[in-house]
Amino acid sequence: MRTKLCDQFGIEFPIFAFSHCRDVVAAVSKAGGFGVLGALAFSPEQLQIELAWLDEHIDGKPYGVDIVMPANLAEGAADATKSQLEAMIPQKHRDFIESTLAKYGVPPLPEGVAGAESLLGWTPSGGHSHVDVALKHDIRLLVNALGPPPPDVVAQAHRHNVPVAALVGSPEQALKQVAAGVDIIVASGTEAGGHTGEISTMVLTPQVVDAVAPAPVLAAGGIATGRQMAAALALGAEGVWTGSMWLTVKESDLQPAVVQRVMHASSRDTVRSRAMTGKPARQLRTPWTEAWDGPESPGTLPMPLQFMATAEAYSRMYRAAEADPDSPAAQLAGTPIGQIAGMLNSVRPARDVIFEMVEQYAAAIERLDALGK
Ligand SMILES: Cc1cc2nc3c(=O)[nH]c(=O)nc-3n(C[C@H](O)[C@H](O)[C@H](O)COP(=O)(O)O)c2cc1C
Repeated sequence: MRTKLCDQFGIEFPIFAFSHCRDVVAAVSKAGGFGVLGALAFSPEQLQIELAWLDEHIDGKPYGVDIVMPANLAEGAADATKSQLEAMIPQKHRDFIESTLAKYGVPPLPEGVAGAESLLGWTPSGGHSHVDVALKHDIRLLVNALGPPPPDVVAQAHRHNVPVAALVGSPEQALKQVAAGVDIIVASGTEAGGHTGEISTMVLTPQVVDAVAPAPVLAAGGIATGRQMAAALALGAEGVWTGSMWLTVKESDLQPAVVQRVMHASSRDTVRSRAMTGKPARQLRTPWTEAWDGPESPGTLPMPLQFMATAEAYSRMYRAAEADPDSPAAQLAGTPIGQIAGMLNSVRPARDVIFEMVEQYAAAIERLDALGK
């Protein structure tokens, strides 16, 4: 399983792990994989703290940072201030959010408790600030989602000798990324957690590999075992890019009530919905996603307005789930997650998960070998 990317990054296994949780990132890199910290939910100041922590706790192992710089935002959103964006959220959406929360008895936030940051890093200025902070640290890879990164970001990363990777859902998108100077393509199938296209990993990966050759490709979406990793490498990928599987490891900071829900979920319990961000993202199906996709929904808003409109509602649901995991209010709390949810059934340290994956990979290759030529 020693692929070109192992040599390029000095890693033992070509297992790339996306997580918003620094403990997961550190654990994966220390176990011989490559952890990538999702920057989206952090302010630039908080990102600086997370990366300083990683520099100190990762034992010199390589890690990366993932930013989200969407190529398409709501009209006028790219240059708008936060209050101008807030003014673009229609009252009927605010009313729908409140009535849905009320239906499930989700209490308001207590006085003095602020909701989650609602703008996140997905405006051009937010994304650029994340890049500036990230490149001050010893990162070895910069990853972008939702379209080709702006040319100045690619140039800035390359000036720091940091390669750039980007997520794609079709071969056409992959070609645009290579033309934009992106070095590594992450082919993300529809079964993946988070933003996804419509093509499955099995069908997408070889098409992307052929389209962008000789650029290296990581296969993503529905990969959590060594057997799936062997399949990805057989499809021509140089490694795997994983996300959902790290939500249930011991180091994950996902709320315990939601971890339990994930462990009981089948592969049919996720939905590709616009409810979270305004763009289709695969997530756990909850009464919240059903409401947004149901007949009384006012329809979702374009990015970044949908998350801005709902950020406080997410804080309220998560508080409710923490206070009483069995309450109707807690049922609303979900998470981005892929169809692999149906195979995530235990909580173990990330290191054990990696080693098991490597053993399974070896067994899969042995089995194929025994089949002969
Ligand atoms: C909880 C969660 C949050 C995610 N957030 C982001 C993100 O902020 N940026 C990004 O590039 N990808 C994000 N993703 C997608 C992952 O990077 C990855 O492509 C995906 O999880 C791979 O498929 P899998 O979930 O089947 O492993 C997220 C995935 C999950 C599960």
